[in-house]
Amino acid sequence: MRWSTRLTQHFPCTVPLIGAPMADHSGAALAAAVCQAGGLGFIAAGHLQDNVEILETELQAFPVTQYPLCLGFIGHSVLADIAGWDRYEYILQKHRPAVVQFFAPCLVRHPVKPGVTNVTIAHDIGAKVFAQVGTLDEAVTAVQEGHVDGLMVQGGEAGGHGLRRGLAKGTLPLARSVVRRVRQWRPDLPVVAAGGVVDGAGLAAVLALGCDGAMLGTRLAATPESQGAFATTLADPAVTCDDVIRTTVLDAIQNEYSTTPWPAPYDSVGAVRNRTVREWEKGTTNNDSNDLRQALRDPVRGPAIVADYWRHKHLADFGMVHCGQGVGEIETVEPAAALIERISNEAADILRTLAQTLILPDNDDGDNDDGPPGT
Ligand SMILES: Cc1cc2nc3c(=O)[nH]c(=O)nc-3n(C[C@H](O)[C@H](O)[C@H](O)COP(=O)(O)O)c2cc1C
Repeated sequence: MRWSTRLTQHFPCTVPLIGAPMADHSGAALAAAVCQAGGLGFIAAGHLQDNVEILETELQAFPVTQYPLCLGFIGHSVLADIAGWDRYEYILQKHRPAVVQFFAPCLVRHPVKPGVTNVTIAHDIGAKVFAQVGTLDEAVTAVQEGHVDGLMVQGGEAGGHGLRRGLAKGTLPLARSVVRRVRQWRPDLPVVAAGGVVDGAGLAAVLALGCDGAMLGTRLAATPESQGAFATTLADPAVTCDDVIRTTVLDAIQNEYSTTPWPAPYDSVGAVRNRTVREWEKGTTNNDSNDLRQALRDPVRGPAIVADYWRHKHLADFGMVHCGQGVGEIETVEPAAALIERISNEAADILRTLAQTLILPDNDDGDNDDGPPGT
């Protein structure tokens, strides 16, 4: 199926779905499968300094002559120092991606070269640039100062890292505000919603908001092509939207040993509320990690907490199971290309049926036996 939105018009895809860059999850196999079905599939370059060799292996495995290479970078760590800027330029020069994405933050200025940013460097090699943003203000800055080519609007429902609770906005109001604001001066700019979309109904909903497509993270983490360890947990019918929390607890522990600790306000994840989270919620009033931070500073308790977490983090009940609030509607671990095709077809059916069933001609009595679609 071929769609026509600003996304498919300005980016090399025919279906308005993006496979999110997901560190430790989206490598060559997942990105290629998304592209095969007509979507835009990202490989996560992630933090880069820890994984240049791993990334290069994925890049060599990606069928670059068949599909557009799309690379997602994390701003705070990739461009933390001059060596990081050099690594970023090296990867871009060598692999010439068609599309580059930045997140946390999405716009970074070169520390010594005036006027040079992560975006200008990507533009210089001919790549288009997506910014993943979490607020209206960030969206406006990315467009007006960063001159990006597209926006991914991430709501607080999203899986993985994003703005802390209290700062994060719902996908629906944020996407709507961004669409209305940026179209005033960039009518052609693709805006894609990220957060909570796992099926055709979600895609149809964000298209109705005025978005040009949806970005899928959690849904694609539950595919055989994902490199993540928790696909079956995400597809477990027992895991519902009620089990998802946005929390700083898991980052507070991981930041103790990580070489790329997440800074505020991005040190928060959408994740399954598992034993680790529940444990720390007990002692806190607002589900935040203040008690945990105190405990981590304790010379005896701190190292013990970190060691225990490290030992068990591969288990779903202990580790960081990134997941968005759409997880409750995931029931199977499904091949990514078939999934993209199914979601695209579902959304098209829903949009066609909605137009036929909800809007009645003036002389219709409204007695429609078919009922609304998408249930
Ligand atoms: C497992 C996982 C890892 C993620 N890693 C990244 C990442 O490396 N870079 C990034 O920009 N976003 C990352 N995200 C966030 C996604 O880009 C996107 O905003 C989010 O998945 C959309 O919400 P959804 O999970 O409800 O589909 C990740 C999300 C998940 C679920």
